[in-house]
Amino acid sequence: MNVAKKIISKHLVSGKMEAGAEIALKIDQTLTQDATGTMAYLQFEAMGVAKVKTELSVSYVDHNTLQSGFENADDHKFLQTIASKYGIVFSPAGNGICHQVHLERFGVPGKTLIGSDSHTPTGGGIGMLAFGAGGLDVACAMAGQPFYITMPKIIKVNLTGKLRDWVSAKDIILELLRLETVKGGRGKIYEFAGAGVKTLTVPERATITNMGTELGATTSIFPSDEITKDFLARQGRISAWTEIIADDQKDYDGEIVIDLSTLEPLIAQPHMPDKVVKVKDIKGIKVDQVGIGSCTNSSLSDMLLTAEVLKGKKINKNVSFVVSPGSRQVLAMLSQSGALFNIIESGARVLESACGPCIGMGQAPKSGAVSFRTFNRNFEGRSGTKDAKVYLCSPEVALAAALSGEAADPSEYFGAKPKIKTPEKFLVDDAQFQQPEADGSKVEVVKGPNIVSLKQFAFDLTTDVVVALKVGDNISTDHILPAGAKILPYRSNLPKISEFTFGAVDADFAKRASKIPNGVIVGGENYGQGSSREHAALAPRFLNIKIVLTKSFARIHLANLINFGIIPLTFDNPADYDKINQGDNFSFSRAKDILENGEDFNILIAGKGIKIKANYNLTQRQKGILLAGGLLNWIKEKASK
Ligand code: F3S
Repeated sequence: MNVAKKIISKHLVSGKMEAGAEIALKIDQTLTQDATGTMAYLQFEAMGVAKVKTELSVSYVDHNTLQSGFENADDHKFLQTIASKYGIVFSPAGNGICHQVHLERFGVPGKTLIGSDSHTPTGGGIGMLAFGAGGLDVACAMAGQPFYITMPKIIKVNLTGKLRDWVSAKDIILELLRLETVKGGRGKIYEFAGAGVKTLTVPERATITNMGTELGATTSIFPSDEITKDFLARQGRISAWTEIIADDQKDYDGEIVIDLSTLEPLIAQPHMPDKVVKVKDIKGIKVDQVGIGSCTNSSLSDMLLTAEVLKGKKINKNVSFVVSPGSRQVLAMLSQSGALFNIIESGARVLESACGPCIGMGQAPKSGAVSFRTFNRNFEGRSGTKDAKVYLCSPEVALAAALSGEAADPSEYFGAKPKIKTPEKFLVDDAQFQQPEADGSKVEVVKGPNIVSLKQFAFDLTTDVVVALKVGDNISTDHILPAGAKILPYRSNLPKISEFTFGAVDADFAKRASKIPNGVIVGGENYGQGSSREHAALAPRFLNIKIVLTKSFARIHLANLINFGIIPLTFDNPADYDKINQGDNFSFSRAKDILENGEDFNILIAGKGIKIKANYNLTQRQKGILLAGGLLNWIKEKASK
């Protein structure tokens, strides 16, 4: 078997390992971050389970670390106390970005991990089978429920050759994005293989699996080999290592070959991670802001390279340059080694170890700015500045831009690449993680005024529905419910956060939708791509959206819609998309019977006499969830039977 199948087969609760079939997997570990975690734990609490049933669950605070009002601080306290009560490890603000920290201190090859953050596949860098999921799915896993996915196709990414100087792991994943696009990974696991794998360190592998998310992939994974063993040994966790390598190089549903030795420094242009070109093709573009960090490129090696390149040099005066080390461990080691001095002396602004500018928490660039970032997403407006142009690149390309003030190919701009040596032993201080109380029953969960208890939804769809909004292709969860310092603090306050739904697309949407008893959103291809943010389903549901009808869906968002009782439909004939307009009335009769009986939906658009066939490719379980009004109700119904 290949690596992915080996892990799936060991965790298979039900279903067959045949691409397209629904499978249920036992989940060993979960992680949450604060932006999605508060809701996940409210949901877990509503399930009435005394303690988490996973081997390990960790609650990280890394997104909303700005405390400019009481809201974020309230949420952090809630997360700390609920973690202690229910058997969850708590990683407070300052410890670092969930994926970086999890890789360093908790990830175990061969284990399954789901996280309420779409970049959870970062764990694939050490051979974990790691999935991004909605918070409710994570809550279910903590309650001991299996995780349901459609068995993906497993695609071998055969890496040959070796990267040249100034070309890095980021360029490998950008090349894959160029080849496959942001839709190319749907229903696939990318499994990395070939001689090139042995040339990549764990942090480099993790950069690749992290950004596999941008391909829309179910997940991405590397084998667990001697290099993985070395990484874990340096972290003082060699006992966590097991070897997991593919024993049949032909056991794949497809193959892509990338010759590392031919790659050049690449860059994704605004506003999509797959708009990839060679850096030399945009040479000379003036750059206003540069950011090195995020869960994609904030490892110790990324930071040591940054320090070494900047040594004795000054940042261009027209560039605002920010560096965010990925974890407290990385920051501490940078400081201990003296490398931090080189970064500070260059004129860089050193930020807290957190998501920061990646999630729009500070560092919004100036109007119309060009911003080069080592992050993984460049959707319009995500930086906090609507007309900013965000490019995604490697630390090498970012450094050339920070020093020169423009887009420059680092292999031309710099001389020989410095050799970076990471220490034999990482600085380990697990005292920074808070272990839960052995007897959680006595722990009081603190809910400040920003924590609003959950609203229970029911299946209450009636015949007449109205198209509340029509949008185009590649609508991301950032479009549906933006992040940023103004909005994210309300993530545990559904009535409030719902007011921001589709705000940047259509400022009147929330008001209009809340007045329609049964609303429909019509979308194009790849609806709901991007972050796993379940508020992008929850908030529309709160505003009475009952159906989303699109040409196609992104995986995590599709699951989130079902979890919150929104019926996801796709056009049988994509050309029918053009026949529907915002404000159209549908006759949508017998929805309950149709779902129960597995019939097709034939939608009649009132006043136009147009009939449209819509499909739903749902399992019995998913139909059951919709008919129950959502996953929480479904679980409760199951528990009461
Ligand atoms: Fe955080 Fe950005 Fe990663 S928001 S988890 S650093 S994608």
